[in-house]
Amino acid sequence: MAVPRSPAPLKTGPLQMAHVVDVVRETPSSVTVVFATATPLPYRPGQYVLVEFRFGSGRYRRAYSLCSIPADDMAAFTVRLVPGGKVSQHITTSLAIGDRFLVSAARGDFLLPDSRAGRRFVLVAGGSGISPVMSLLRTLLAMPEPPPVSLLYYNRNADDIIFRARLEELAAAHPGLDLQLVVTGSREGWHGLHEPFAVTRVLAAARGDPQALYYICGPESLIDTAVEGLLAAGVDPALVNAERFAAPPVHERPSRGQPVTFVHRGLLLAKRTRVRGEAGESLLDMGERAGLRMRSNCRNGTCGACRATLVKGEVVMDEPNSLSLADARAGRILTCISYADSPVVVDLRR
Ligand code: FES
Repeated sequence: MAVPRSPAPLKTGPLQMAHVVDVVRETPSSVTVVFATATPLPYRPGQYVLVEFRFGSGRYRRAYSLCSIPADDMAAFTVRLVPGGKVSQHITTSLAIGDRFLVSAARGDFLLPDSRAGRRFVLVAGGSGISPVMSLLRTLLAMPEPPPVSLLYYNRNADDIIFRARLEELAAAHPGLDLQLVVTGSREGWHGLHEPFAVTRVLAAARGDPQALYYICGPESLIDTAVEGLLAAGVDPALVNAERFAAPPVHERPSRGQPVTFVHRGLLLAKRTRVRGEAGESLLDMGERAGLRMRSNCRNGTCGACRATLVKGEVVMDEPNSLSLADARAGRILTCISYADSPVVVDLRR
């Protein structure tokens, strides 16, 4: 796993200034940021950079995997809007050509082996996890004799498929590329594969090759399911590579506790329970401390079990998280990764 998941703030190391050369709209909620640096930015396909954006009165650091390949004129990363995410909101709605930000040296070990001849590759991506996987895929296909490669790319809706046209072009140009675009949510506008993520499809893509190499990047739940399923099926762990998204930016959580009112079911009518929050305490922890029956499961923003509705006030939510844009528009939050930034009213009823 290449990207650190420690709760410590993201440490960037030496940074250099970068400027935005292009912002390419990939889907309604995602963009690719093409950028240039004063001194070259060496990297290997599959690596990521730490970036620091300054806007409003804040400084925000994030880790983004590069979707470009070293042979490209410029480096690039792709960002999808995360509900409640300040940085992804800024990048997908406000970032413009010429804007500046800081960027670290490339890092990470989600890398292809040096010796690739005769190997079969199974790439699995979910959502914006396609970013480093695109870099790996293009690298493999650029080899003089590209190896057999499958790409299984999962998205909730057809509209969410990043790089769809480019992927279909690559598949048309490379008969050895087995491209499987899978939609897991709405069927609207989609006539292709439609099913939940299942490791059986990943295993089938290896076509019985016990030495196939697997590369997986996407939401934590997809990675966990894929890795556990592959290992349970007897795949050698040395053949399985997974890249998790960046650690939550805990340093941006509010530094002061706030009063929170929970609305929950009473015997007949809704009840309200007021709790004084402590600094760094999630709404889920607060509710549990007050003795409320709070729904939860993963406690890290992945499963959606703790969804509630923000009725009033402001919360800061860690990103990435599993909320859909429709959830966000409806005022849904995940209590396990939400922190009150003002007096807040939260409805726990569904
Ligand atoms: S408990 Fe799983 S998202 Fe909150």
